[in-house]
Amino acid sequence: MKKVLEVKNLEISFDTFAGKVKAIRDVSFDLYKGETLAIVGESGSGKSVTTRSIMGLLASNANVDNGQILFNGTDILTKTEKELQKIRGKEIAMIFQDPMTSLDPTMPIGKQVAESLMKHNKISKKEGLKQALDLLNLVGIPNAEKRLKNYPHQFSGGQRQRIVIAIALICYPQVLIADEPTTALDVTIQAQILELLKDIQKKINSSIVFITHDLGVVANVADRVAVMYGGKIVEVGTSEEIFYNPQHPYTWGLLGSMPTLEGTGDRLYAIPGSPPDLLDPPTGDAFYPRNEFALQIDAEEQPPFFDVSPTHKAATWLLAPQAPKVTPPDEILIRWKKFQEKNSQTTV
Ligand SMILES: Nc1ncnc2c1ncn2[C@@H]1O[C@H](COP(=O)(O)OP(=O)(O)O)[C@@H](O)[C@H]1O
Ligand SMILES: [Mg+2]
Repeated sequence: MKKVLEVKNLEISFDTFAGKVKAIRDVSFDLYKGETLAIVGESGSGKSVTTRSIMGLLASNANVDNGQILFNGTDILTKTEKELQKIRGKEIAMIFQDPMTSLDPTMPIGKQVAESLMKHNKISKKEGLKQALDLLNLVGIPNAEKRLKNYPHQFSGGQRQRIVIAIALICYPQVLIADEPTTALDVTIQAQILELLKDIQKKINSSIVFITHDLGVVANVADRVAVMYGGKIVEVGTSEEIFYNPQHPYTWGLLGSMPTLEGTGDRLYAIPGSPPDLLDPPTGDAFYPRNEFALQIDAEEQPPFFDVSPTHKAATWLLAPQAPKVTPPDEILIRWKKFQEKNSQTTV
């Protein structure tokens, strides 16, 4: 399959008064044409910094210490701001968690979408408004024609996110990055937005990078899942592999801490402890202090990736040939069995 993006050995740090925050620590992954890759991990694990680097939108105190981000074979990190502007929003588009930050509260929606269209496609105002209406219909805004004159605050959260998606789609981007696009929405609306993204992907064959802290959200949308912890990817595999045969104890913890299936928001299990201090990352495995299955070597040396299948690898010493065989705790096994059962009954 064709690779649209290749992130290679990316290392990013931030200068702060407290010192250098080593936010991204040797991250590599590929994005294939037409696939949805989910990047999952707790808050602070480096998901947003990774995706912002792909957009060339890093904060001014950021340093790219190492690595490449190849987009169709050329390195985004070496491009000038002017070159980036040709890619951003056209070839690679981004949807953020809070749609209000992407919309102008003082301008009617029809005009906003039309202006983006006019900017990118050199069309007349009349044609812009016509195409804006088509796009709003495409993303499922009810009575779109009547609502062109409404302002952002007159739409619900879910509808605003649909509008932001419409704007992101204007140029039929090859890559659509969605950074926690559904986190602020209730569960039913989340499912609708995910459905919408899937639909659009079928229509325009774009690749999607879907960021979330909640593994449960991605079960029905992602082709592949990358799990991040402490600025590193610790496990990557197809959705099947991550949900049915997870290998990293952190992935076990994420599976165990998914919200209850009854939708009450209760979590059976929370991963004890807290993420590593990225001002002074540990020499050994960053998950060591929270890993109930940790081995002596975890304290001393970072684990390499061990291959589980040609598409599945995990960075945990538990996969070393000399390591004792361990299985995830019972309560997690029960939990994800339930989740699998529910998953096989419903397709969101
Ligand atoms: N501009 C910045 N200055 C200093 N530290 C930052 C900056 N942006 C992000 N970070 C740090 O980088 C790490 C990764 O952040 P982020 O990618 O936003 O996490 P996530 O999106 O997974 O929640 C965190 O420790 C965060 O505090
Ligand atoms: Mg984030």
